[in-house]
Amino acid sequence: MRPIILLLASLALPAFAAERSGAEVYESTCSECHAKGKHHAPILGNAKQWNKLVREGLNDLVPAALAGVRKMPAKGGNPDLSDLEVARAVIHMANAGGGRFTEPSSADLARWRQKADKRSRK
Ligand code: HEC
Repeated sequence: MRPIILLLASLALPAFAAERSGAEVYESTCSECHAKGKHHAPILGNAKQWNKLVREGLNDLVPAALAGVRKMPAKGGNPDLSDLEVARAVIHMANAGGGRFTEPSSADLARWRQKADKRSRK
């Protein structure tokens, strides 16, 4: 029994480790624009700017971040990010602006990906 558990753990760990936290993704990709408001990006921690976005909710924000909106490039211009990593970065920023969002489920991610694909086709 135990060797099987160890084997499963060793298979699963790298997959989890590869997904970075919202703060890490924010620092590496999103802060370029969202730290100081380049191109009028909503600034991290600016409750006034994020208030309205937080009320729109993740069902709007995550597909927008995945597909891009006006001067905001798809996935913040970093196509290597997974959908989960982008969603975590959105949650990191939204929560710094007064949101109380938690880790998304795989059903959330599938729904957001579908919405993002619809947006990109417009
Ligand atoms: C090259 C600059 C740039 C980078 C990099 C960038 N953003 Fe943005 N972002 C913008 C701009 C500009 C807006 C405002 C878009 C608008 O409404 O016109 C924006 C808006 C947003 C919004 C609000 C969308 C909405 O529905 O109004 C979210 C969420 C967001 N960005 C998430 C992210 C995440 C997550 C990352 C990193 C993975 C990221 N951004 C990286 C420029 C950037």
